[in-house]
Amino acid sequence: MEELLQVGAGQSYAGGARQRITIPAGTYKMSLYAKTSGSLSAAQMTVTDAAGNARTLNIPASSGFTRRELANIPLSAGTATVTIRAASGNGYLTVDQLALVRTDGSTPTGQRYEAETAPAVCLGTIDTNHSGFTGTGFCNSDAAVGAYAQFTVNAAQAGTATLGVRFANAQSGGTARPANLVVNGTTVGTVSFESTGAWNTWSTKSLTASLNAGSNTVRLEPTTADGLPNLDHLDVGPTAG
Ligand code: GCU
Repeated sequence: MEELLQVGAGQSYAGGARQRITIPAGTYKMSLYAKTSGSLSAAQMTVTDAAGNARTLNIPASSGFTRRELANIPLSAGTATVTIRAASGNGYLTVDQLALVRTDGSTPTGQRYEAETAPAVCLGTIDTNHSGFTGTGFCNSDAAVGAYAQFTVNAAQAGTATLGVRFANAQSGGTARPANLVVNGTTVGTVSFESTGAWNTWSTKSLTASLNAGSNTVRLEPTTADGLPNLDHLDVGPTAG
């Protein structure tokens, strides 16, 4: 099914359409298919970033759909506004397949935060006596309800992210070490942290959490006096939606 946007212009810049989107900083290409009719002479597509920098693609008259594009547009993070305007005369601009695409390649990948690396906080000790950890150690939290391990994570944009918590739990009797997941000071879930069977057997719990753009704190707080399992690191995927 095809969706076309038609912008009419009975007078100078009479017609227009505008859309706002939240984007990470990067280099972008904007493109569209456009055709014009009547005495409409020209039209424009403009993108303006959160810092107010604008780039304009001129759309000349064409009776059939013609692809127009403007590449290498540096845009800062935040709200970008894409505006389409039809310029002068009596006529119509019809556009299709409007796109603003990031072209500087870096599909955002996950970021790893080690429990032993500041600004992470471990209320307990950073230990190395059980093999298989990444980085230079792991957090062995105090055996108390008030203990915690906290990570400071950065998100390019607000949205839901997948969190991977790597842990080991060899509590005798195969007992779980449950914890609250606290994001930016709010408890948003619980994590069971079942037994992994041995202190050098590590497992990763996959969780989801809603993050703000920029800096966030992700804290695991034990809910029993056994404390947390040993915590190795937190992997944070890109935020979406
Ligand atoms: C053992 C183990 C520690 C672990 C602790 C616990 O002492 O060596 O790595 O943190 O048990 O029960 O939490």
